[in-house]
Amino acid sequence: MTEKEIKIPYIEAQYQELDEQDRQLVDKALEATARAYAPYSKFNVGAAILLDNGEIITGANQENAAFPSGTCAERTACYYAHATYPDARFCAIAVAAVGTDGKELEEPCAPCGACRQALLEYEKLAGRDVRVILVGRKVLYLLPSVKSLVPFAFVEF
Ligand code: THU
Repeated sequence: MTEKEIKIPYIEAQYQELDEQDRQLVDKALEATARAYAPYSKFNVGAAILLDNGEIITGANQENAAFPSGTCAERTACYYAHATYPDARFCAIAVAAVGTDGKELEEPCAPCGACRQALLEYEKLAGRDVRVILVGRKVLYLLPSVKSLVPFAFVEF
């Protein structure tokens, strides 16, 4: 038997420390929270994906009275991005959330497992790392790739 350990590299940063492109992506993710349809959870999530054609595609969570039919912000954004620009590759994604108190979350909001798995596939399609920016009011986390968020990911191909 061998004991092993997986480490996740990430950078803690302040908004002001980001370069202009990352700040723009964060701004777009925050703006997208306003387009959530979340009458049940009242938890508004926004995601913004930078594509290699320069486009930024945003998405927000869309809920439904039949609860499992709703979709998270990240999957709304990544499916829309690929459905709109199937030849473009993902470069980075920012995720932000506004809680039930109507305020941007203090701590960064991280994608759920299903969204991580979905994003991982677009990272594989891109053939290179897709940076992840998790946005909080107090602090932001910068991750080098989606796969760094998915240890022991399911990989079929
Ligand atoms: N949600 C997201 O949009 N992204 C995630 O990664 C996790 C959760 C949404 C789903 C639901 O509309 C609300 O947040 C509360 O769970």
